[in-house]
Amino acid sequence: MATTILNHALIDHKLTIMREKDTKTIVFKDNLDEIAMLMAYEVTKELPLVDKEIVTPICPMIGKELKKQIILVPILRAGIGLVDGFRRIIPTAKIGHIGMARNEDTLIPEEYYAKFPSGLEDSIVIIVDPMLATGGSASAAITNIKARGAKDIRLVCLVGAPEGVKMIEEDHPDVELILATLDEKLNEHGYIVPGLGDAGDRLFGTD
Ligand code: PRP
Ligand code: URA
Repeated sequence: MATTILNHALIDHKLTIMREKDTKTIVFKDNLDEIAMLMAYEVTKELPLVDKEIVTPICPMIGKELKKQIILVPILRAGIGLVDGFRRIIPTAKIGHIGMARNEDTLIPEEYYAKFPSGLEDSIVIIVDPMLATGGSASAAITNIKARGAKDIRLVCLVGAPEGVKMIEEDHPDVELILATLDEKLNEHGYIVPGLGDAGDRLFGTD
């Protein structure tokens, strides 16, 4: 399935504020909320619909409603930062959580927490994480969510590296990948260049 890079003017403007090293935690989070709403709008544009019979004040009509339940899955921790914005746009979404932590030496991710609503197999699962670096965390999260029954999965990340895109395309060709932007490369520590640093630390004020 294709990878989409949004390259949206307003998202790029807000992302530049987030990237700046002196941007404070609160401003970082505010801009992430706003970007999440814009990304939610973009990624839901072509969701499947079913007909719904309603009556307007003027006459009966066949309207539309979403065909499938949406389950939003943030990859802990940093993925939590995208949840509020997505929920503003998709208030009926249920939320699952998966905790993946990269071992900073090996860069290999490990699952340390998972909790999902029922119905993964019939839902549209939107996994969110601000950063797609090596791709290891997202790829392992997708593998683990597929093992729990999910079939229709999209991965939404803010900043991607070419290495991460390649891993997702190779490991999960059935998963639609949506990025706000594609950066240049990874550095020797597995950080995205130019990137925005450690998204979890900047979001939660840890270091
Ligand atoms: C960050 C980020 C992604 C992962 C990306 O999480 O939020 O989940 O790294 O890197 P990868 O593509 O090379 O796997 P991290 O492991 O730092 O955990 P955190 O969100 O708790 O800070
Ligand atoms: N995780 C982050 O938070 N930032 C990066 O640049 C890479 C992985």
